Amino acid sequence: MIFGRVKPLDAILATAEKKSLHRSLGPVQLTLLGVGAIIGTGIFVLTAEAAQKAGPGMMISFIIAGFVCAVAALCYSELASMVPVSGSAYTYTYAVMGELLAWMVGWALVLEYAVAASAVSVGWSGYIVGLLRDTVHVNVPVALANGPYAGGIVNLPAMIIAMLVTWLLMIGTTESARVNAVLVAVKVAALSLFCIITLPLIKGDQFTPFTPNGWGIIGVGGAAASIFFAYVGFDAVSTAAEETKNPQRNVPIGLIGSLLICTIFYLLVAGGAIGMIGAQPVTGLNGEVLSPGSSELAARCAEIVSSGATLPLACSKEALAHVLKIGGYDWAGYFMGLAAGLALPSVILMMLFGQTRIFFVMARDGLLPEKLATIHPKWKTPHIVTFITGVFVAIAAAFLPVGKLADVSNSGTLFAFFMVSLAVLILRRTDPGRRRPFRTPLVWIVAPLSIVGCVGLYFLLPFDAKMVLPIWGGLGLVIYFAYGYRKSHVGRGIIDVPEHEAYEELKPDVPATH
Ligand code: ALA
Repeated sequence: MIFGRVKPLDAILATAEKKSLHRSLGPVQLTLLGVGAIIGTGIFVLTAEAAQKAGPGMMISFIIAGFVCAVAALCYSELASMVPVSGSAYTYTYAVMGELLAWMVGWALVLEYAVAASAVSVGWSGYIVGLLRDTVHVNVPVALANGPYAGGIVNLPAMIIAMLVTWLLMIGTTESARVNAVLVAVKVAALSLFCIITLPLIKGDQFTPFTPNGWGIIGVGGAAASIFFAYVGFDAVSTAAEETKNPQRNVPIGLIGSLLICTIFYLLVAGGAIGMIGAQPVTGLNGEVLSPGSSELAARCAEIVSSGATLPLACSKEALAHVLKIGGYDWAGYFMGLAAGLALPSVILMMLFGQTRIFFVMARDGLLPEKLATIHPKWKTPHIVTFITGVFVAIAAAFLPVGKLADVSNSGTLFAFFMVSLAVLILRRTDPGRRRPFRTPLVWIVAPLSIVGCVGLYFLLPFDAKMVLPIWGGLGLVIYFAYGYRKSHVGRGIIDVPEHEAYEELKPDVPATH
């Protein structure tokens, strides 16, 4: 009975105790950690996609997505504090719902991390191409700066950055706490500058019509499901529960604090962008709504450019820099480009790192071949799995649009958050007496809200992104029954698996997302 293959919590905790970390993080550091992990392509790039779906109503989309993340975050934290070991959602599910579902969560996390890394690579490309064009007058040809969906052949800059980050990870680069602090400061400075410039120039009439496409999949709801990507990463705070002083108090402060700061920033930035240049969706010649990332929208945007009209927000690949340049603040636009160019690769690094970590834990449990996680003798990194992942990430970045990638990544993340929220409730029933350093407040309200929110956002994703999850899941099932089912350590009665010795060397100073 595979559902009976549960990894006992005590065995997981015994493993964790061998590597228990010093409790040093306070509420402020934790909040900064969250803000650093959260801000990225979502706000810098996907604001344009959100405008195409929701128009000015994207401000509501930011609130909806932020709310679902907040309730999911509270559930995540309870398990993170009870089971403070690597592997996060995968490990929690293993302990609560058994191996098969844990495998499915781990498999979904692979989708989330790898595809998110591709999405951020494409987002970076948009900013760098704009920065090169406007500052040093180097024009990357359209064919080499876009995938086929936008009339190009290959998105070369996206491919290059993905491979570069892969190489850095292979040779053992992890982000130091100091570099992270500098990059957080750069991102926050860039967004603050954006608000300071744009907010005083807001024109009220840019906000009407407020919801031009209504509230459904192509309107505010769909934009919320896509913009959910902008909040992903907050789970870095839950993952750091083990290193936090007084986690019962500080973890929720860190989580809700970082989510709140980002939500406020996102609302101000969105408000500034809408109020300054408008955010109405681009429609086809017959007034039909064009979907973000489609070749129809790319063609229509190209027509608008050639007609000499101002490029709408929804067409821009460097949304925030674009708003500032249109407003006549070219220097600030360049600064935005520079900030994104510097800061986004660290988000790619975190995502790819998260990916290798998940593979690592799954291989340690016998569900994937341990050979995949072979450690390089000199670099001390799982170079094989990092390289394979990097190649896939680079290929996806080369040929697919940023919004589609973010949507696919969201489908994996929403599945993982859904399972975690369910696991919290199950564990409250099956193991009520266990020590919970952090208890989700009002769990019987918060967890169901999170479950409903995750399911709701999943169904608001575009059809193709929704379909990727079951197809990917089906592939995962085949692999599980062909390999993991027979090789699983739990299945073979090996329960107390020691933490992989080399794993310690893979830990960065700053916990990666998840
Ligand atoms: N929240 C991260 C971003 O927007 C993943 O890039």
